[in-house]
Amino acid sequence: MTKLIAPSILAADFANLQRDIEMVNNSEADWFHIDIMDGVFVPNISFGMPVLKAISKHATKTIDVHLMIVNPDQYIQTFADLGANVLTVHYEACTHLHRTIQAIKAAGMKAGVALNPHTPISVLEDVIADLDLVCIMSVNPGFGGQSFIENTYKKVSQLKHLIEFSESKCQIEIDGGVTDQNANALVEAGADVLVAGSFVFKSEDPTATIADLKKICN
Ligand code: DX5
Ligand code: ZN
Repeated sequence: MTKLIAPSILAADFANLQRDIEMVNNSEADWFHIDIMDGVFVPNISFGMPVLKAISKHATKTIDVHLMIVNPDQYIQTFADLGANVLTVHYEACTHLHRTIQAIKAAGMKAGVALNPHTPISVLEDVIADLDLVCIMSVNPGFGGQSFIENTYKKVSQLKHLIEFSESKCQIEIDGGVTDQNANALVEAGADVLVAGSFVFKSEDPTATIADLKKICN
């Protein structure tokens, strides 16, 4: 299966958002990764519905929304209406995770669950068959530009085994500190989707950086 690159718009130039969206549209990137932070689940606030609406208007690729918010259930339909194709909630923010996953799918989106660096893979054993995506956080969520946590590789292998054992179709996404230095090892460990924010948007030529990552992974 082709490995996917998902540039994280959090690292884009918000004063030139349309330009950066067109860059992703015209690049070898596969998905748009959109980080929604509420200042409660994580110690930062990113952007909300009006900005996602503006992004959706121009984006021509899959919109992968990563909710770093408490009570995500109350916004599931809103994110579907705003054009999200994949909706990922945090395990740590969902008391009734099974119900949340079903509600995301009922709203016509692919359902993802993200795990903080301290959360073990084993907590997903009883929902893995229902999931389309698991996002392993390779930094503590809340900010772009942090360093990759090395323990991630072990978690990717454990998740890969769980997916195979359960015959799940779930994809493995890695989010945080992804660069050309760890992309290949992540894919070797079993990753399917690599999110990259700073490494893409702070580079001199983001289009070429995306192409490089794509080449490293495939
Ligand atoms: C972190 C976000 C990430 C972030 C990744 O909380 O979920 O998606 O934008 O940024 P980099 O690639 O700079 O670590
Ligand atoms: Zn993210």
